[in-house]
Order: sequence, then C-alpha cells, then structure tokens
Amino acid sequence: MNKQNVTLIDHPLIKHKLTFMRDKETPSVVFRQLLREISTLMAYEVLRDLPITTRTIETPLQTMNAPVLDGKKLAFISILRAGNGLLDGMLELVPSARVGHVGLYRDHETLEPVEYYFKIPQKIDERLVIAVDPMLATANSAIAAIAQLKKAGAQNIRFVCLLAAPEGIANLGHHHPDIPIYTAAIDECLNDKGYILPGLGDAGDRMYGTK
Ligand code: PRP
Ligand code: URA
Repeated sequence: MNKQNVTLIDHPLIKHKLTFMRDKETPSVVFRQLLREISTLMAYEVLRDLPITTRTIETPLQTMNAPVLDGKKLAFISILRAGNGLLDGMLELVPSARVGHVGLYRDHETLEPVEYYFKIPQKIDERLVIAVDPMLATANSAIAAIAQLKKAGAQNIRFVCLLAAPEGIANLGHHHPDIPIYTAAIDECLNDKGYILPGLGDAGDRMYGTK
C-alpha cells in the first residue's frame, strides 16, 4: 500500500471524542452524537482541497470577485448501515451534497460482504465521491462498495472511515490503489472474528442498540 494514500486525521478533539466512542459504557445516543461530531471535523479535512472559482458580488462597500465552490455537487455515499453515522455529520457541513447508499453487510462466518441495495446520484462520473463507513476491518465491504461505484462510473472517489485496521488498509490499497483513505485512527490488528482491536465493537450495533 502506498503510504501516501492514507491520511490520518488525528486532531486532539477527534482523539478525545473517539475515546468516548470506544468505551463500552457509552450509550447509543452518545455514540451517535460523537460520530456525527467527529465526521463533521473529518469532513473539514477531507474536503480541504475542493476546487474554487469566483463569483462577482457587491459587498456594502465595493464589487468583489469572491470565492465559491466550483464543479458539480459532491456525492456522499453511505455504506449501510453504519455509514449513516458519518454521513449525518458530513451533511451538516455540506447540506447541498447529493447522497447515495450502498447496502452491504458482512457475513459473520465468511467475512464476505452481502449486497442488498445500491442507489446513487446521477452523473456520478462528474462528481467527487466521498464513500463513508466508520469501520475498515478486512476491507471486504469497502472493496465491494468501491467496485460498485466504479462500475457505475465514479472516477474520483475518497474513502473515509473512523477506525482502520492495518490489514484493511493493505487490502483496500491492493484492490483499489487509486483510492485515498482518510481515517481518524489506525488500530492494532483484527481478531480471529475480523473485529478491529482495540476497536469499538460493532459500529452498527452500537449506533442503533441492536445485537
Ligand atoms: C461493518 C462496518 C463495515 C464492515 C467492515 O458493517 O460498518 O461496513 O462491517 O468490515 P470489513 O472491513 O471486514 O468488511 P456490518 O457488516 O456490521 O453491517 P452494518 O453496518 O449493517 O451493521
Ligand atoms: N465491523 C465493525 O462494526 N466493527 C469491527 O470491529 C469490524 C467490522
């Protein structure tokens, strides 16, 4: 994996909030709130190089060529279910973004993704696509989701997660070396059931209080 393709967004505020998310005593309502807050902070970094153009406006004092975002609206793609937690915070920052959903869950025995839904914005080839999922474990889910997005025409994709396992970073880099990865933490390893250690458990279950 090309190391330059991984950006670790380890702002102190993110680190602090992530610790509370990892704590098994943190209830779902707080877990969701923290995920939303972290994703807003991450979005700020992930989108820092968005293209800019100018528009002529009148300030109360004079005419000015002022900066505005250029190009087509962004596409945020949530990898269901847990991706919705990252999506919410990003939408707070960029409310005009288009939104797509890729439905995938991990088979607990094989750790292979099972696909059940795919709906994304039109003209995906003209948009910057931000695919979000809090957990990059084996990366099988991210690899499948990104393959679907590419098949649908997406050409400029970034993958954003909260926690990444080194195994997942290597696997995603092997299958999609062109995709930049943004993460708030790189954890130690996977356990024999494919969970990230130390991790935070099952992100979807912790968000929604399921088992
Ligand atoms: C979790 C997580 C990722 C996937 C990561 O989803 O949100 O999509 O596991 O694991 P991987 O990198 O080994 O593929 P899960 O399958 O639990 O589905 P859910 O979001 O619906 O709970
Ligand atoms: N999916 C999760 O939700 N958590 C993990 O640790 C691994 C995959």
